[in-house]
Amino acid sequence: MIIAIDGPAASGKGTLGKRLAAHYGLRHLDTGLLYRAVAKSLLDAGKRPDDVAAAVAAAKALGSRFDEAALKTPAVGEAASLVSAIPELRAALVAFQRDFAAIPPGAVIDGRDIGTVICPDADVKLFVTATPQVRAGRRAAEYRAQGKTIDEATVLTDIFKRDERDTSRAASPLKQAADAHLLDTTHLGIDAALAAAIAVVERSKQR
Ligand code: C5P
Repeated sequence: MIIAIDGPAASGKGTLGKRLAAHYGLRHLDTGLLYRAVAKSLLDAGKRPDDVAAAVAAAKALGSRFDEAALKTPAVGEAASLVSAIPELRAALVAFQRDFAAIPPGAVIDGRDIGTVICPDADVKLFVTATPQVRAGRRAAEYRAQGKTIDEATVLTDIFKRDERDTSRAASPLKQAADAHLLDTTHLGIDAALAAAIAVVERSKQR
């Protein structure tokens, strides 16, 4: 079974994906980590986030393990949002994602273009969203839990900027697939969101 989850920054799709994968005994891939890993390798090498050749080379050199703590920083997220607009980079990462999905018993894959481009034939597609204010609050809480000092207004500005970039870019923009189920988590905690997602999966299995 392949479950595709898409949604904007800090919508909770990563946490939901992890929990959904554990529930169904599937593997989980947070594809944001791929773009973040490429962005970090460009930053570390002093390259610009629009350096097409360097981005493609970094994508080809990706391993299968990711240091989440080093990748989930505001600076890497910002650079990831820039490099992810490069069509050649997106193309270079397609096979990695499809190969991951193809290994039995299947996977939960989350990102921006999973239901639309990477796995258009996924068994279940979810589009997870929440208001920008709620997403900024969640992201700020994550940073605080990591001991970082943050200003919530700055986080909200960053969310708006990322939404604008992710939805307006020409290459694989963030959008809800026609056959995706919308899951608005504005008023849902993670347990309620998980229950709602499981209900969607179970309904799809009966069809
Ligand atoms: O989801 P996360 O915030 O970790 O993603 C970082 C950036 O990578 C996003 O802002 C988005 O621009 C990009 N991304 C993407 N396609 C994906 C996953 C992430 O363009 N499938």
